[in-house]
Amino acid sequence: MSDSSTSTGTLSPDPAHMPLHVAIIMDGNGRWAQKRGWERMRGHQKGVDAVRRTVQGCMDYGVRYLTLYAFSTENWKRSTAEVSGLMLLLKTTLKAELESFHKNSIRLKVIGRRDRLPQDLVALIEEAEIKTKDNTALTLVVALDYGGRDEIARAVSNLAQDVLAGRMACGDIGEASIARYLDTVEVPDPDLVIRTSDVVRVSNFLLWQAAYSEFVFMDVCWPDFSKEHFLQALLSYQGRERRFGHDKAQDVPHG
Ligand code: FPP
Repeated sequence: MSDSSTSTGTLSPDPAHMPLHVAIIMDGNGRWAQKRGWERMRGHQKGVDAVRRTVQGCMDYGVRYLTLYAFSTENWKRSTAEVSGLMLLLKTTLKAELESFHKNSIRLKVIGRRDRLPQDLVALIEEAEIKTKDNTALTLVVALDYGGRDEIARAVSNLAQDVLAGRMACGDIGEASIARYLDTVEVPDPDLVIRTSDVVRVSNFLLWQAAYSEFVFMDVCWPDFSKEHFLQALLSYQGRERRFGHDKAQDVPHG
């Protein structure tokens, strides 16, 4: 399945129907490199250019939230060389881009666990989050040591502690209160989730938040993801009818 085979020509997305939040599973870096006989890390390095293009695309089209799946709770199972290469790449990229993020009014937010990340990376994340906290053009959410199940488990544990301590009543537990315990508090649910490299699965990404998201799976490896691919995904999204579980034809007007 692919949405990436047609050229968009001179089409542009309808500014009145832009997704507020786009989330991306940046897949295919390793395969992109291996196909060329290169180390997998070269795919990740090239992937950073695609991150820059996509951030620019969000600024150009007026997407206000972008979430990128940079490292999953399962990615620790990769080789030590790849894991430490990725941690170093994230650190150098964050360091190199911080000024430019700030100048462009980009707010950085990192979701996921921090207790297993290198301490210098955590310090850099905290510095970047504090420095950019009042920026408003785009919120860039980076999912790092992130897994949807892990996030929900941590939320349930924190919620249970608040119930035990008497800060919350069992009767108050509902969808809205659970959402306040998730890492994505204050981030709207994604309208559109894009996954590259033609793999069609959700891989533990935003399990709670993507309940009603539209999904676009694209037959392109992440390092080759261009502004044109981004545009195709936005156009595909804009061509869909979002029903949130109800059938508009059968809707009974309230009132
Ligand atoms: C998935 O491809 C990609 C990753 C696990 C890492 C992606 C990280 C970056 C591009 C760096 C991003 C930097 C910032 C600041 C957000 P894969 O290795 O699973 O590819 P494969 O499926 O071909 O093996």
